[in-house]
Amino acid sequence: MNIILLGAQGSGKGTQAKRLAQTLGMHHVSSGDLFRKASEAGTEVGKKAQSYFDRGELVPDDLTVAMVLEHISQEKYVRDGVLLDGFPRTIAQAQALDQGLLRVGRFIDCSLYLEVPREELLHRLSGRYICQANQHVYNIDTNPPKVPGICDLDGSELYQRADDQGSAIQKRLDIFFNETIRLLDYYEQQHKLKTVNGNHNIEQVSKDLIHAVKACK
Ligand code: AP5
Ligand code: MG
Repeated sequence: MNIILLGAQGSGKGTQAKRLAQTLGMHHVSSGDLFRKASEAGTEVGKKAQSYFDRGELVPDDLTVAMVLEHISQEKYVRDGVLLDGFPRTIAQAQALDQGLLRVGRFIDCSLYLEVPREELLHRLSGRYICQANQHVYNIDTNPPKVPGICDLDGSELYQRADDQGSAIQKRLDIFFNETIRLLDYYEQQHKLKTVNGNHNIEQVSKDLIHAVKACK
């Protein structure tokens, strides 16, 4: 299967995608993680994208589409299916994804929308910490590490993303609620949209997502 996890910034896409991919035996691909890795590696894509994501703005479609489609064209993704987190975020990206998958005889089976109120999103983002080594996600209130500042899973240091500070948070949420939200109609029209309440605890949301995936088949 090929699945899209849709949701505002802080809705739990990364948290849930890691768990869901493991349960379903799929590969998790996060466009945000790809950009952060490209930036750390100092590639051309990373350099071009960094100023956008540090400010909390969308990276231009051409750069994003080229990076993600190239990444998921690797054999293992085509063979096993992907769980996409953070891509697509615009109608143009969704159309390019459909066309790219069609070229290799694949399509999107299901689009899962994690619905969370804006107040809760703000609270989650300002308490989020990420690990340096593998982008594992924590939250000082709802999902703290056992040892403060250290990742439970790989021992690397935790840091706060630049776009989880100051005005960037509000800007990112505005982009979601003004633009990315249009994708709900796009997938609804294709009868591929399932909405899941993301405002429960992490375990409950995982269970609900699995049910939603089963309902897609
Ligand atoms: P990206 O890395 O995708 O960031 P984002 O969209 O801002 O989404 P987040 O990662 O902030 O939220 P999430 O839903 O993954 O939440 P998480 O699980 O971490 O993108 C970064 C940037 O890259 C973009 O701003 C843009 O510039 C660029 N980019 C990426 N894709 C692009 C695209 N397609 N087009 C153009 N540009 C693109 O959870 C958040 C917090 O809540 C954590 O602390 C977590 O522990 C906690 N939490 C999670 N679930 C729960 C729960 N159920 N209850 C309580 N707390 C919870
Ligand atoms: Mg994320």
